[in-house]
Amino acid sequence: MKKKEIVELLSLKEPEAVRSLYERAYATKLKTVGNKVYFRGIIEYSNICTKNCYYCGIRRENQKNSRYEMSSKEVIEAGLWAFENRYGSVVIQSGERNDKQFVDKIKGIIKELKTLTSGKLGITLSLGEQSREVFEEWYVAGAHRYLLRIETTNPELYSKCHPSDHSMLKRLDCLRILKEIGYQTGTGVMIGLPGQTLSHLADDILFFRDFDIDMIGMGPYVIHQETPFSRYKDKVDHEENLQLSLKMIAITRLIMPDINIASTTALQAINPQGREMGLKAGANIIMPVITDIKYRKSYQLYNNKPCLDENSDMCKSCLEGRIATIGEEIGYSEWGDSPHFTGRKNDKV
Ligand code: 5AD
Ligand code: SF4
Repeated sequence: MKKKEIVELLSLKEPEAVRSLYERAYATKLKTVGNKVYFRGIIEYSNICTKNCYYCGIRRENQKNSRYEMSSKEVIEAGLWAFENRYGSVVIQSGERNDKQFVDKIKGIIKELKTLTSGKLGITLSLGEQSREVFEEWYVAGAHRYLLRIETTNPELYSKCHPSDHSMLKRLDCLRILKEIGYQTGTGVMIGLPGQTLSHLADDILFFRDFDIDMIGMGPYVIHQETPFSRYKDKVDHEENLQLSLKMIAITRLIMPDINIASTTALQAINPQGREMGLKAGANIIMPVITDIKYRKSYQLYNNKPCLDENSDMCKSCLEGRIATIGEEIGYSEWGDSPHFTGRKNDKV
């Protein structure tokens, strides 16, 4: 697909035309990855972050947030809960830190979770930019997927959204290293950032394709009131961001038919049915939060985060119901690697 065509699809407004785009993407999904949804339980390890992204609620300079870090025991308990409930894998996510104490603690947690589940629980990390050595250490310890969003592939927009010591090139380098090490590598962008155009978003999709990415997690930009970007609160149209995000999912599915695409929680922050809408537009992964409720309120990257008071058991039965209503199945006890990654790995052997 050419960039011009992507921009045209992103600008569709007429409801019938938009519906037909989603139907096309959904049919492609059924043919390639099927109608199974895979769960990745998210453990929100810590809201301590050394970075200061202008849009994010847990940025370093937000002093209204009380900071926490889970103990190893708590992370392991959450991981075992996921395993016992037949979630194929967990994602350990956190604000970015590079200190040795953090690196070692994460390594210990990965090893223990692997040992306690006889290697069966899949472990994905979403812990920001790290050195090659750290990525390697965690890989050797047993993590096999890594999520690192590029946020936007447009250098000017990137620098409007981040302080000057945050570097898009460094992030690209990290993505390259992750792939070289052998991680299933995921990335994504925020959709509807102030100043973002349809042309930027089309370039983002082409980047996913050209970088040959295995997994995508992208979602609408949502205001957080304690951030510098809250100054755009009257300009951001959340409903529009939701619709645009669904189109991004659908077009990405058409262009990269066999990858894993997440229907992200931010969709649900805008519309209670947001994640089901994402699945119907071509996504096939859901990432239920499995963090203990005592921490959930402190891990708010954006306003309106859903499920703050529901514990993991409640989230599980709620999701089962929601997925059944749209006629999909849950891929319990499976890692749910994308056929794309499996193909890429076999090419190498
Ligand atoms: N709205 C939507 N997504 C956000 N993220 C951070 N802040 C926001 C926000 N205000 C996303 C970023 C980051 C991921 C963990 O959360 O894309 O990579
Ligand atoms: Fe930290 Fe990530 Fe938020 Fe940036 S987006 S402030 S790196 S948690």
